[in-house]
Amino acid sequence: MLEEGHILLFRETPFEISGEDREFLLRQRQTEAGYHKNIAYRPGSGHVTGVARQQAADARELKRVLRDYSRAAAEFASRTLAPYAARWRLDYASFRPQEESDRKLSRHARNDLLHVDSFPTRPTFGDRIFRLFTNINPKAPRVWRTGETFPELAERFAISSGLLARSARRGAGGSVLRLLRSAGLPIRVRPPYDEFMHGFHNFLKENDSYQEKARAETVSFPPGATWLVFTDMVTHAVLSGQFALEQTFLIARESLVLPEVAPVAVLERIAGRSLTD
Ligand SMILES: [Fe+2]
Repeated sequence: MLEEGHILLFRETPFEISGEDREFLLRQRQTEAGYHKNIAYRPGSGHVTGVARQQAADARELKRVLRDYSRAAAEFASRTLAPYAARWRLDYASFRPQEESDRKLSRHARNDLLHVDSFPTRPTFGDRIFRLFTNINPKAPRVWRTGETFPELAERFAISSGLLARSARRGAGGSVLRLLRSAGLPIRVRPPYDEFMHGFHNFLKENDSYQEKARAETVSFPPGATWLVFTDMVTHAVLSGQFALEQTFLIARESLVLPEVAPVAVLERIAGRSLTD
């Protein structure tokens, strides 16, 4: 059901976050610099970005709290979703201390417009983006708009938007890339799948008529809740909420229960060819 685009909600977080850790996080402030959308924690290196200037002791404590959350979330997910755990890549964790209802962000960075997730600098090569969120706000819910799933949108827009054809030209192996390479320019390669997903994320946010007419409902995640969702599948927009934790997993295409409903498979059926070579 998760792979098909349902959200799994636990009204109470099914793993431990201590009261002191919650209190500590509620006191943290994010840097005002626009290029950090959240406070991010990299499990591999233990590196934290996006936090406002602070005392060394607070910086150490923040790193420890985010590390513990990341570990507890991963440990819970590996027990609950055992088929994925052997092959997933543990991606960044994040803390979102800003109130979402009045953020000033650029159009493509805005959280309050419906979209499916794609990481501009970290291609997944067809693997899936799976996220576990926890609302640690003691009073207010985190409110999403959510509705249509990727297969419905791909049927409607993949070809008509021109994005599928463009991603084939611009992605790895495409004519644009060959031309730039032959001119000796250093180019970062993104496979056509990731090229498409990045373009699609922006296309949906730019598309006013889609945003207005989309079939979507409002879903409220109560204080203390944890929810799990494939955010490359489920359209979502954050309308309000403050103080959410999140851990991202990249789920290997080979470990999916229903590989045929994965966005990459849906797109490859429409395109009639592989998009990750
Ligand atoms: Fe998102």
